[in-house]
Amino acid sequence: MARQTLFLLTFFLAGSTLEAATSGDEVYKSRCAGCHDQLSARIPSREALQKMSATRILRTLDFGLMMSIAYPMRREEREAVANFLGTRVDDTAIPASAVCPADRPILSHRTDASWNGWSPSTSNTRYQAAEAAGLMPDEIRKLKLKWALGFPGDVTAFAAPAVWNGTLFVGSAGGIIEAIDAKTGCLYWTFQANGPVRAAPVLVPTAPASSDATLLVGDQIGWFYSLDARSGKLRWKRRVEAHEATRLTATAAAEEGVVFVPAASWEETRALDPQYACCTFRGSVTALRIRDGSAVWKRYMVGTPRKTGVTSIGTERYGPSGAGIWSKPTIDKKRGLLYVTTGDNYSSPATATSDAVVALDLKSGRIVWSQQTTPNDVYNSSCGTKGSNCPPDSGPDHDFGSSVMLVQTSTGRELLVAGQKSGVVYALDPNQKGKVIWQTRVGQGSANGGVQWGMASDGQKVYAAVSDAVRLGNVAGPAPIGNATLDPVKGGGLTALYLNDGTKAWFVPGQPCDPPRPGCSPAQPGAVTALPGVVFSGSLNGHIRAFATEDGEVLWDFDSVRTYTTVNGVQANGGSLDGAGPVVVDGMVFVNSGYPRFGGMPGNVLLAFGPDD
Ligand code: HEC
Repeated sequence: MARQTLFLLTFFLAGSTLEAATSGDEVYKSRCAGCHDQLSARIPSREALQKMSATRILRTLDFGLMMSIAYPMRREEREAVANFLGTRVDDTAIPASAVCPADRPILSHRTDASWNGWSPSTSNTRYQAAEAAGLMPDEIRKLKLKWALGFPGDVTAFAAPAVWNGTLFVGSAGGIIEAIDAKTGCLYWTFQANGPVRAAPVLVPTAPASSDATLLVGDQIGWFYSLDARSGKLRWKRRVEAHEATRLTATAAAEEGVVFVPAASWEETRALDPQYACCTFRGSVTALRIRDGSAVWKRYMVGTPRKTGVTSIGTERYGPSGAGIWSKPTIDKKRGLLYVTTGDNYSSPATATSDAVVALDLKSGRIVWSQQTTPNDVYNSSCGTKGSNCPPDSGPDHDFGSSVMLVQTSTGRELLVAGQKSGVVYALDPNQKGKVIWQTRVGQGSANGGVQWGMASDGQKVYAAVSDAVRLGNVAGPAPIGNATLDPVKGGGLTALYLNDGTKAWFVPGQPCDPPRPGCSPAQPGAVTALPGVVFSGSLNGHIRAFATEDGEVLWDFDSVRTYTTVNGVQANGGSLDGAGPVVVDGMVFVNSGYPRFGGMPGNVLLAFGPDD
């Protein structure tokens, strides 16, 4: 019942239907009062929290300073405590001066140059061809900041932007989806989603060659939306999974009137609570008709969870579970297949479809083949603290977090190339059920990521950046963000591999934090972007760098950690780079800065660069 009620509510709750189910007062007493009711200069008092908006408090729990404390909290508990404490004031108002002038109408810049969804092409290579990139390698050295856009009230800027017909569409931690002019940053419209939006929007023309489009995107609490791209008006929305912990981090893939929506979850961190019956979420792909959101097919990555026993403290255990899908599916029209990559199992029994590349039939969703690279990877967040919900013989937490790339070698052979948190890059044969052709280690790998969000390929080489962030252990006092401080010297690195055989072409190590600053690490977990002659990779140290694809020479380096004057009048600063990688379209480079998760530096800004003219 509580779950059904929750689905009807929006992100910013006006009413109190929920309080009946979950009391904000109770949540506050059990989860917050221990710190916030004591007098300490470091901890804002209860009175101070009561001056903040409910929206702001909810964001702090979802993606801000209190994220690690909120990990075990269910959605309804978060919303209940935010509403119990906070005010109803909207602190996200945008000034009129930010709005586009009448002579710059939306979607008016008709062009073939786009970056639609996660990658310019359905093969997920994150490679922008010369004409669409509109940037020559010699112009890279002259890139200058053209404008900056602030995300009001946020401490993270993790959303992947998409650019189509001159308009940039981007989500935010506050759940606001914006349509803005790519050249100037002026605003066309905003849409308030139910939860935080970090997936890249996908634009599907309403008719062939039409400049009107449908915008498709999911949020971090499991809702999927279809909007009119011109007006931002909602066409339909639906949940693809009933599970409370569902999150739609991956960008969806669209093909011939159908959108394929992959689902992942927060359930691994829910398991931190020893009373939580772990685990029941199942990774899935849901195929929906773009027209009306009706279902075409649905495929789960693991079977139906059953009760498997109890933990040492008597909490019920369920399994199988997990194999969430964190990245955009790859469409192979020739073979009629849809490839997805999966994460770990959260509870026993282990399944053959976790940490795997899985090929589904585009028409029916049937699993045609599956290639598992790490068997028996059963893991959840309770394993980090040796909690009772940790499965026996827990695995290394080596999910696939990034899409498989469908690429063609110089000899005309097609390969599927996938990078894993284990730090290994695999090339699989699409004609032999994913048989491994070559594999190369590019990093040490860990639960914090070897290859994390995505690689790029220009058809000659594969560019793989690694996180390999090193935590220095817990620091004294109340838990800071992500419960960690990061080693300022160890981690990161960008490797170029020859596509044909996986041998190394060059390697550039991570860039140490100089000067050292809190939350700084050389790790490079964010997705990589390539164009002819150039590859971009950002770091938790706040720098975005461009490298020559030939030899790895650094062509450009911008330190994004500073405060910005923004086009929308929002106070903004830069921080760590992670998650979504740079997007290059029509002579502009778009970079999101700010990512405090895992102990990185907070920030709330989207930066737009262009050559100095
Ligand atoms: C372990 C102690 C601890 C617990 C438990 C805790 N907090 Fe906090 N909280 C802190 C500290 C310390 C800060 C200040 C962090 C800083 O500024 O570095 C803080 C800051 C905040 C802020 C302000 C963040 C900002 O962006 O300025 C909010 C809002 C907040 N907490 C809400 C909550 C809520 C709601 C709960 C219960 C669900 C909670 N906290 C539980 C210690 C705690």
